[in-house]
Amino acid sequence: MSKTSELKKIKDEVVAIETELARFRIDNKYFPVIGEGSHDASIMFIGEAPGESEAKTGRPFVGRSGQFLNELLEGISIKREDVYITNIVKDRPPKNRDPQASEIEAYAPFLDRQIAIIKPKVIATLGRFSMEYIMNRYGLSFELEPISRIHGKVFDTEVLGEAVKVVPLYHPAVALYNGSTRDLLKEDFKVLKKLI
Ligand code: URA
Repeated sequence: MSKTSELKKIKDEVVAIETELARFRIDNKYFPVIGEGSHDASIMFIGEAPGESEAKTGRPFVGRSGQFLNELLEGISIKREDVYITNIVKDRPPKNRDPQASEIEAYAPFLDRQIAIIKPKVIATLGRFSMEYIMNRYGLSFELEPISRIHGKVFDTEVLGEAVKVVPLYHPAVALYNGSTRDLLKEDFKVLKKLI
């Protein structure tokens, strides 16, 4: 099966999933947000869950945090269409609350499959939830520390026998209201640029 058809299959499965978040999506005429970008991307960005703008359009990071993510990418001369952007949880949690452990458990297998299909060389996690999920899932639990200590660091691991670098980053939403986190994120993006 081609990468595109494998990714399409994930989309069909998310559309059909029966969770409370899916019920909330249907009741609000929202879309699930599967992910977008190059299917051959070297870098995959993983956020938390869609916000309202994302659920209304079916596209990841198109609201205010998305605008800042675009700026960060521009700052290192990487085109948004050359990376792949997704989230752990594919349906919007009500009032943008944090995803619950059971929601992460329900949706993370789709993320694992996206990683296996796209085979990025670098996984950049955005925020604490995706940092914790990815580091625990891919053999880096022993390196886990608060994001304030390990943001911008590069961790080497393997996914299905292939070398992958994991770089925890702050979530762009946090940086919107905090100038110093904004500067830290800009610096950390320079680390990404060096890796590709
Ligand atoms: N925040 C996220 O974590 N993901 C999005 O897609 C948008 C905002």
